[in-house]
Amino acid sequence: MDKGDRQRRTIRLFDSLADRYDAWLASPGGSLANRLEQHAMLRAIPLDGNQFALDLGCGTGQYTRSLALRGYQMVGADPSRAMLAVARVRGSAGDRVAYVQAIGEALPFRDATFAVAVAMTVLEFVDSDAAVLRELARTIKRPGTLVVGTLQATSPSNIVRRLRPSSTLASAHRFYRRAELVRRLGTLGPVRSWTVVHFPLRIRSWRLALLLERLGRRWFPWAGAMAVLAVRVKRLTAPVHRRQGQTGRKGAIWR
Ligand SMILES: C[S@@+](CC[C@H](N)C(=O)[O-])C[C@H]1O[C@@H](n2cnc3c(N)ncnc32)[C@H](O)[C@@H]1O
Repeated sequence: MDKGDRQRRTIRLFDSLADRYDAWLASPGGSLANRLEQHAMLRAIPLDGNQFALDLGCGTGQYTRSLALRGYQMVGADPSRAMLAVARVRGSAGDRVAYVQAIGEALPFRDATFAVAVAMTVLEFVDSDAAVLRELARTIKRPGTLVVGTLQATSPSNIVRRLRPSSTLASAHRFYRRAELVRRLGTLGPVRSWTVVHFPLRIRSWRLALLLERLGRRWFPWAGAMAVLAVRVKRLTAPVHRRQGQTGRKGAIWR
């Protein structure tokens, strides 16, 4: 399968999931996980809203809306028409949100447009993560903030979900260890990272989930379902592609 086919397949998958994409939020474990993930994203975001921010791979727009409520003038971008349609129905926090159909590998925005960009559980599904990171780096102002949320490769619950053919995770193109992304994003500026959701999503008791969460963050961060990485983007990095056999700069995000 060539890259174009793979990309079309991913977009078709999210088109087909759009109507039921947010269903997981209805369970106690799902809604707690979502709150923790939202909080993990927002803690990295400067409070000085009233600037342009991008939610790449915005899906049904849950992070777009949170950032709009922080005062940001939001652009939610996603290649899936059906996901965008659901996002539009869910509301746009006044006139502070514009939804745009676009792919992360070729963003239709000028250099240094956004004070903040977030990409939550998106890099796993894109065709070329290097191209997407390059586009994010190009469109973020300096200084600016980039927040990436990723489904940790080491999380037991993610490992189990990947094995289920019916899970969206089974269609992901890749998974990351946190250290790998810290290294790649570190070429742009200092990176902070933390992990969330250290309990199985099917858990029924909030109390138990919160206990596991506290223990997990302290003692087994590798088990968190999501890692959130926040970069204070400072540097202008040369968009160098590493070719096969070329040694390239260690840790460059452009691989
Ligand atoms: C797992 S969903 C995450 C949605 C949203 N960020 C959230 O966390 O609720 C992944 C999203 O990435 C989008 N996506 C897939 N390929 C993409 C690409 N090449 N560029 C940008 N977004 C892409 C999908 O359409 C989908 O909406």
